[in-house]
Amino acid sequence: MRAELLVHQLPLLCTLDPARDGALGELREASVGFSGGRVVYVGDAAHAPDADEIIDGQGAIGLPGLVDCHTHAAWAGSRADEFQQRLAGADYSAILEAGGGILSTVRATRAAGLDQLIALTRARVSGMRAHGVTTVEIKSGYGLDPTTERLLLMAAQSCNDLVTVVPTFLGAHTVPAEFRGDREAYLAQVLGPQLAACAPLAEAIDVYCDRGAFTLDEALAVLSAGRAHGLRLKAHAEQVTHTGIAGAAARMGALSVDHLEHIDGDGIESMAEHGTVAVMLPGAQLYLRDPAPPVESLREAGVPLAVASDLNPGTSPVHDLWTAATLACVCQRLTVTEAIAGITRVAARALGHLELGWLGPGSAADLVVVRPAPGEPTEVASLVQHLGGRRVEAVVRGGRRVV
Ligand code: NIG
Ligand code: FE
Repeated sequence: MRAELLVHQLPLLCTLDPARDGALGELREASVGFSGGRVVYVGDAAHAPDADEIIDGQGAIGLPGLVDCHTHAAWAGSRADEFQQRLAGADYSAILEAGGGILSTVRATRAAGLDQLIALTRARVSGMRAHGVTTVEIKSGYGLDPTTERLLLMAAQSCNDLVTVVPTFLGAHTVPAEFRGDREAYLAQVLGPQLAACAPLAEAIDVYCDRGAFTLDEALAVLSAGRAHGLRLKAHAEQVTHTGIAGAAARMGALSVDHLEHIDGDGIESMAEHGTVAVMLPGAQLYLRDPAPPVESLREAGVPLAVASDLNPGTSPVHDLWTAATLACVCQRLTVTEAIAGITRVAARALGHLELGWLGPGSAADLVVVRPAPGEPTEVASLVQHLGGRRVEAVVRGGRRVV
């Protein structure tokens, strides 16, 4: 056997293959071979096949291409002013209720054309890929009308040559200014024309159920309509206030519910029962100075934990998934093993893409080669402990070197 590409002599390879021993399916002194866009060898470096092209893995750690399972990477405009207002004490939900926050990004996004939205989204996604991310979920949600929501999903789709994009329709992000007096009419637009325009471009539907956004009943109506269009279900749940959406969405078969700072015991029980993934978004928790989600109770109940950047211009301007992994450990007390699984295999599960986030026979051919900060051992704890300092040596996507 000859491989087209071989990542060779990694002192540590975390396969995340559940068929292997070790919490992260670790192999020492390992190589990974790719041919025809597939993984053709994972194992001992000494028995690796010959290859047309070799990436030297010495001194580095190999991991499956990272999966960022919750981002709002398609937007125009800046919220740096709002950042300063919040530093001076202004409240996030109050800013939104007064027409700022998400709504200010909606104004800037509506004013941008498709070309600009594509350029901005691609630039952000390229930056994410340089850190080792090969799959990005991208939500709409800053258009809040049928035309602009659709443009945002087109901008998301335009990144498919860079990474694997999972586009998610989030027309129910908040009620836009022109409908503030008639939220029922806006909901009807989301469930009707927006969904009809966007469902063909999306894999999933999401809803922001919270103070300043949608009520539990409204959110459930959105999820039901999405399901009727064949979309997978997700929810921004229990972030600012407790609404009960986490448990309700879990019972509807949602793939994930995300945030969860204010989830209660019933919600956790429903998630555990239905295998719903809890997506931790420590960037938003940090920027909003929120309390941490009850990670210990989620863990005890057996709820799978993923970690995502939540990249957005307001609550989580976090472009690096490694930063989210580190913050999940420091601010939410995930273990290093949970954080690594949370940005790979469990994140893929949150998207319903079980071929992603691990390396082995039948997996996607995506891999990142990363060197810990100078002087650190080639161990995952070093990778996650340090904010910055690591160096991404190579990114392989679809069996080809892209970084
Ligand atoms: O995930 N919570 C709602 N949505 C985003 C924030 C979006 C924004 O503020 O622009 C979030 O935190
Ligand atoms: Fe979000």
